[in-house]
Amino acid sequence: MTWIGEAPGRVNLLGEHTDYNEGFVLPAAIAQRTRVALRQGREAFLLRALGRSTQFTLDSPPAEQSAKYVYGCIKELEALGVPVPPLEIHVSSEVPMGVGLSSSAALEVATLRALRACTGAALDDVAIARLAQRAEVRHAGVQCGIMDQMASSLAEAGTMLFVDTRTLERRKLPLPLGSEIAVVDSGVARSLAASGYNARRAESELAARHLGVPALRDVAKPETLEALREPLRRRARHVVTENRRVLEALEADAPAFGRLMKASHASLRDDYEVSTAELDELVARLSDQPAVYGARLTGAGFGGACVALCRTGEARRAAEAALARYSGRGRILVP
Ligand code: GLA
Repeated sequence: MTWIGEAPGRVNLLGEHTDYNEGFVLPAAIAQRTRVALRQGREAFLLRALGRSTQFTLDSPPAEQSAKYVYGCIKELEALGVPVPPLEIHVSSEVPMGVGLSSSAALEVATLRALRACTGAALDDVAIARLAQRAEVRHAGVQCGIMDQMASSLAEAGTMLFVDTRTLERRKLPLPLGSEIAVVDSGVARSLAASGYNARRAESELAARHLGVPALRDVAKPETLEALREPLRRRARHVVTENRRVLEALEADAPAFGRLMKASHASLRDDYEVSTAELDELVARLSDQPAVYGARLTGAGFGGACVALCRTGEARRAAEAALARYSGRGRILVP
């Protein structure tokens, strides 16, 4: 007997570093997917992924990073009272790794879907997203929010999923009329992503504490940020303005949406300081293209990919033209 689970990667259109501040996000699924196949095992768990084999038991976490995600999913399911038998776990994936398209969330959600099929556990898509996030936070060492797991579990390719990450209320929206997405990798690996990410999260939480609000989502008057010392003031300003941009984007046509993306990138670069010189250059080259409404880094930053909103039918050509003028070695990931 084989149990299969599949899940897509995601690209975030707007709402970056807002999820762990209980704010708003606007991701879409991408076409690339991760597939996990489970078969009855012997005594331990045997994971085959990326051409490597790792054996582990539930008593000690594996050292290898991708194994930690799978281990975390099994541990979290067991913590709910669902026993998981020894398994052989085969992972194959088309989702590019380490570029900000959530290969880890795709692995977690695909693993949990396969485990659901195997154990018969009653888990809906939101429950799977929550378990997947807990697996990552508790067992893989990244203090992530819930955007990626919600997107991988609930979003569709080519459709945006608006999520209020405090309540998990959500709604699907079409892309702005006459637009499509390009995703281009800067070719620069994300360095310091985990430590930089956790540091930003800590700064956000500190800023909220100083302001006396449960989360930066609750800042009602942007003027109150003036009381914060730097860099907390700029970190908080990014979160507050980014939440506002997501809400504006829900009503925006393609040109207005593009302007919001450009403003988001500037804010991530100057206030949140998670961009790099290469991402700034690639965003500028993409934005130069007449068929591009707007572009920005996507995901946590510190390297990885950019997303651009383009006129329908022109994303590929615009991305190629931008790459031809980019000084680094990038590649097109979508379309
Ligand atoms: C990573 C995290 C998400 C989110 C983004 C930044 O992808 O996993 O939870 O915080 O960074 O928006």
